[in-house]
Amino acid sequence: MATDRLIIFDTTLRDGEQAPGIALSPDDKVAIAHQLARLQVDVIEAGFAASSPGDFEAVSRIAAEVPGPVIASLARTHPDDIDQAADALKAAARNRIHVFISTSPIHMERMLRMTPDEVMNAAVESVARARRYSDDVEFSPQDATRSDPDFVVAICRAAVEAGATTINVPDTVGYATPAEFTAMMTRVYDEVRGGNEDVIVSTHCHNDLGLAVANSLSAIHAGARQIETAVNGIGERAGNTSTEEVIMAIKTREDVFGVEIGADTTEIYETSRLVSRLTGYPIQFNKAVVGRNAFAHESGIHQHGVLRDRETYEIMDPDAIGHQSMIVLGKHSGRAAFSDALARMGITLEDDDHARAFARFKELADRKGEISEEGLRAIVEEETGVASELIRLVGIHVSGGDRETPVAAVRVDQGGEIREVQAEGDGMVNAAFVALQDAFGIPATLLDYRVSPITAGADAMAEVSVIVQVRASTYSGRGVSTDVVEGSARAFVAALNKALADRGTNLLSEG
Ligand code: KIV
Ligand code: ZN
Repeated sequence: MATDRLIIFDTTLRDGEQAPGIALSPDDKVAIAHQLARLQVDVIEAGFAASSPGDFEAVSRIAAEVPGPVIASLARTHPDDIDQAADALKAAARNRIHVFISTSPIHMERMLRMTPDEVMNAAVESVARARRYSDDVEFSPQDATRSDPDFVVAICRAAVEAGATTINVPDTVGYATPAEFTAMMTRVYDEVRGGNEDVIVSTHCHNDLGLAVANSLSAIHAGARQIETAVNGIGERAGNTSTEEVIMAIKTREDVFGVEIGADTTEIYETSRLVSRLTGYPIQFNKAVVGRNAFAHESGIHQHGVLRDRETYEIMDPDAIGHQSMIVLGKHSGRAAFSDALARMGITLEDDDHARAFARFKELADRKGEISEEGLRAIVEEETGVASELIRLVGIHVSGGDRETPVAAVRVDQGGEIREVQAEGDGMVNAAFVALQDAFGIPATLLDYRVSPITAGADAMAEVSVIVQVRASTYSGRGVSTDVVEGSARAFVAALNKALADRGTNLLSEG
């Protein structure tokens, strides 16, 4: 019998981060990993160490700095991938090497150009190599659901014989239906794990047909005791199984699933917001569990019912996911109210960061009147990043408009020296971007630009997220303002500062 403990293996920082347009810095990844540890997931897949120096750094830092969960790195069946994964993970108290290779005919023939025998040998050799570094090794036959089930069973058995302790079955392209997936999981459970209690059977589902969570949950009935997930369901194409949906389904329908999880559900809301903010991926309004409308009631009949008894139309308690009742501060709120709101939101700041965040809050509250909890979070995140900026934005003024060419004048402070730079652009935001590139002396390309309203209404506060490319590297930045051009300028400044810090100040003179 499988144990009744279900492992949550969170891959937000590896598969989740593979979603188009997401470019998390190592600092962003460490911040998310700390939050995942507060959420008490069991395993954090911190990245794919051999894929880039940035991923290697992120995996190494998370392994060294984030206590609690097992820290994992992905590796292909290449000796160097496995060695790099082991090297990046060496500081972790508990680590896991996750080895994968494709097993479907289309992947083996067209992509890998390998025969099934070669794939089998590569899997066995790689799992054995990984076992020399760690006693916790996971093996995944990629595209399992489009593979010959006999081959999946055979390669997984060989992986277990070579030392794999977790066998993960990926529905890589989100193709399986719940019934088909349960059938495959049952075969893997019966024929690979059998009576071997040291082996955990796991699922990893993608959401191409919107079935990722359903498929993952159905596998529990077939004996799976690990589900791989990503916060807000982010990931390749339509994404991965969503962490928060799996956790809340298991907690809410304990009667059906009968498994225990270690997650602290009250950290769900904070985790979801942090991932959304740092990835720049907005959360759809009607997203299960964490969407803006997940606990909102519009129709009179529903409102009436909920006022009488919340459970008439709510199957989960918003408090259980840490969705605090609305905190709103106004322009008359003082330092004490500001500090109290941050404390209620679980945020503690160093003195300098606190002073800067408070000043910015006052400035925005003066313009906007009220600042919501979301707005406060955005301000705090922006201002804590400003501390490390080499060049700060002091002011921006954009003139021109529909008929005249827009001209942006930006004032920046570099180590106490104030400079003003002007530039024209083919729009107000573009003019600001051109002026800031001149001010920083860094030519950059804007790869992604998004504006997300934080509050509704004509005077809404918005958060602007950008991804810029400087030579071969990409950098993300965020800015908050009631004015989109100013918010955009703040986001460009944040991203260009990261580029500056990366390359050293000599970039300034390179132009
Ligand atoms: O979707 C997939 O197959 C994967 C594997 C690497 C587990 O992400
Ligand atoms: Zn995947």
